[in-house]
Amino acid sequence: MTSVARSGRRRAESRPPMRSHRIRGFRGAGSPVVSKGDAGRTIPIARPVIGQEEIDAVREVLTSGMLASGRYVKQFEREFAQYCGTNHAVAMNSGTAALFSTLYALGIAQGDEVIVPDFTFVATASSVRMAGATPVFADIDEKSYNIQPEAVLEQITPRTKAVIGVHLYGQPFDVGALSEICDDHGLALIEDCAQAHGARYEGRMAGSFGTAGCFSFYPTKNMTTSEGGMVTTDDTRLATQLRKIIDHGQGIKYRHDLIGFNFRMTNIEAAIGSVQLGKLDAMNERRRKNAVCLLQHLPAAGIVPPYCAPQSHHVYHQFVIRLDEGNGIGREACMHALGERGIQTAIHYPLPLHRQPVFAHAANGARFPVSDACARSVLSLPVHPSVSGQDCRYICARLGEVV
Ligand SMILES: Cc1ncc(COP(=O)(O)O)c(C=O)c1O
Repeated sequence: MTSVARSGRRRAESRPPMRSHRIRGFRGAGSPVVSKGDAGRTIPIARPVIGQEEIDAVREVLTSGMLASGRYVKQFEREFAQYCGTNHAVAMNSGTAALFSTLYALGIAQGDEVIVPDFTFVATASSVRMAGATPVFADIDEKSYNIQPEAVLEQITPRTKAVIGVHLYGQPFDVGALSEICDDHGLALIEDCAQAHGARYEGRMAGSFGTAGCFSFYPTKNMTTSEGGMVTTDDTRLATQLRKIIDHGQGIKYRHDLIGFNFRMTNIEAAIGSVQLGKLDAMNERRRKNAVCLLQHLPAAGIVPPYCAPQSHHVYHQFVIRLDEGNGIGREACMHALGERGIQTAIHYPLPLHRQPVFAHAANGARFPVSDACARSVLSLPVHPSVSGQDCRYICARLGEVV
């Protein structure tokens, strides 16, 4: 591991009217059919909150003629670092670029192993392969669906260089236990914060605990820049290295110190990001209110509601229930029935990583019973800021009829 890897490790908005529309490209397996429900409209599983402020910000950049990375990116980086409480934030063009660039900057490469949860979006592990290293899977906790610290301990070998913890669905993983394990074994802790903008663990921001925090601003996330990503860190050398990696390996113009990429964020994306960051707390509060409403009205039998740990400030990127297995009508039929009633649902995720065709060989015969059970039974319900209290009650009532 490089010295960069070792050093620096420490520690209302008004709601738009709901309109019937189709969601393009949301992540997760979605409802097979979504019709207009009793209320004459559909409740989508995700919807970015875009107002006049974002449109004005984009117009301003377009009018300025400075479309590529520039002062709007610098401003967004400053604001994001301040929001997360870190010394640096480096903007880039996706969450995947954020994860990969961090691994590359830390010198993680062929022959190295990185432990990741078995139950997450594929980019958590594919970024490890992109860096040339091997992702090693760890099972998850049955209640929080986050990586299990004991399972991480079992997977550590002399080749392990880092652990990527994912704050899945908007709830921080067990940062205390993971930090201790990484400290004891000299490993970098990378936080995958793609689903956890504004989430807190014991009052402190996601993205401020590990060697680095990696965010995504894909349109379904708690805040968006259209496409985009960010790395937060307190490590000045890591931040400097990241800036080179995302810009063709150059620190000084046309002097290339390493093989780099074009992972830069544009001014257009950053201008959207600054506006969205200003709305983030209000949007997250709306999600949290919806989660409370859904929890109050969920059917009493046939499902497991989401669990929120006492030390977590959960920002409900997804509101995920588990359907009792072998009971009721089955998940596919349930999704179909809800879809016919105008409620779009999704599965995050239908396959654990060790069962993904691209990673099947990497599982090495290991078993991941919790991850397997979750993949068979999880179901995401709409919880985003454009869902109203009335929608929440409607969703729960229809779910009660179906399960
Ligand atoms: C947990 C997790 N990690 C990484 C990513 C990758 O982010 P992006 O789509 O911006 O590359 C995502 C996005 O869906 C994600 O959910």
